Amino acid sequence: MVLVVLVLGLALDLANAQFNLHIAVGKNYNMARISGVWHLVSMASDNMTYIEEKGDLRLFIRNIQFLNNSNLQFDFHIMIHGECVAVTVVCEKTKNSGEFSIAYEGENKVLLVETDYTMYAIFHMQNIKNGTRTQVLALYGRFMQIDETYQERFENICKLYGLGSQNIIDMTNKDFCYL
Ligand SMILES: *[C@@H]1O[C@H](CO)[C@@H](O)[C@H](O)[C@H]1NC(C)=O
Ligand SMILES: *[C@@H]1O[C@H](CO)[C@@H](O)[C@H](O)[C@H]1NC(C)=O
Ligand SMILES: *[C@@H]1O[C@H](CO)[C@@H](O)[C@H](O)[C@H]1NC(C)=O
Repeated sequence: MVLVVLVLGLALDLANAQFNLHIAVGKNYNMARISGVWHLVSMASDNMTYIEEKGDLRLFIRNIQFLNNSNLQFDFHIMIHGECVAVTVVCEKTKNSGEFSIAYEGENKVLLVETDYTMYAIFHMQNIKNGTRTQVLALYGRFMQIDETYQERFENICKLYGLGSQNIIDMTNKDFCYL
């Protein structure tokens, strides 16, 4: 895992050199700045069952709050029997900057991969349930619509995790609980 993160960090550093829209941060996060409202723009997974309609990990996170004990709170809605139900989960801090863990449908590691705090944030989640490992990546925007460039950035990061365009779903205007 450490090696993967190191290699990924290196690849992202190289990619960052060509990405000058905003100053994107890939480590040593100021997590307090991640707090606030976000809109789900895109999702990707190596098992589409999880993020397609009725998928366990198709979570429309709408608000993120960095808590004063350094844990990270996510507010989202899920559909239960056709009704929108509000859910709050708190992910526990780990010793790594931007990395959190939570038990939800198995064991999960949540990693903030990249953000500029003001426009976009990309998260990677790894779920391990009964020995099966599933990855989900998500792109959030501070606004409902964000520039194509962020989508391209997301696609590049998905590629680093081994996911291609067939693994990516556009989630804009798919969040029926907020429409
Ligand atoms: C994807 O996840 C579903 C639900 O857990 C599982 O039944 C299926 O076997 C998985 N598919 C692959 C290719 O791992
Ligand atoms: C941390 O947040 C909790 C809940 O919002 C609050 O009750 C508590 O006073 C806060 N602690 C500090 C040290 O700010
Ligand atoms: C876990 O995996 C084992 C072996 O593949 C299987 O027999 C068992 O039913 C699974 N348990 C659950 C809760 O999915």
